[in-house]
Amino acid sequence: MIRPILKYGDQLLHEPAQPVGELTSDIDRLIGDMIETMYAASGVGLAAPQVGIPLRIFVIDLSVGSDPSGLTIMVNPVFVERDGVQLEEEGCLSVPGFNATVVRPVRAVVRGLDRSGTEHDREGTGLLARALQHEMDHLDGTLFVDRLRGIKRDLIVRRIRKLARARKW
Ligand code: NI
Repeated sequence: MIRPILKYGDQLLHEPAQPVGELTSDIDRLIGDMIETMYAASGVGLAAPQVGIPLRIFVIDLSVGSDPSGLTIMVNPVFVERDGVQLEEEGCLSVPGFNATVVRPVRAVVRGLDRSGTEHDREGTGLLARALQHEMDHLDGTLFVDRLRGIKRDLIVRRIRKLARARKW
């Protein structure tokens, strides 16, 4: 089932998510829905708070469904390693229509549970490292807009407020 994606300004996106207790059938269904919702939106990543569920789960697939081995599912993930620096454009399904350059480590290793509850690591460089960190941020209530400074951030926030006032957000 495709679930609606919350947008910047919805309180659930701006709060830390809670750890998952047990991998119940409801959680399994949620993960399935998140994958379906991500593909339907042509996104490369989605975190549970984006569909209104404040739990520490995210999915990533840089291939957007074209390569079955490209799918990463992380439940209760933590960073194991992060190093280097990269500066690239970034967007988010919860901030449609906006992009900005965000500074991130160039390499990251994240450890978490897969859909069956088995612990696994995912190492990424470049775009995958960026996606891993972007989704980890969602679990802490941080959007890429929050990582911008000064005028760049103010400009995006002002434009979103304007769209919201016009009921176009
Ligand atoms: Ni996002």
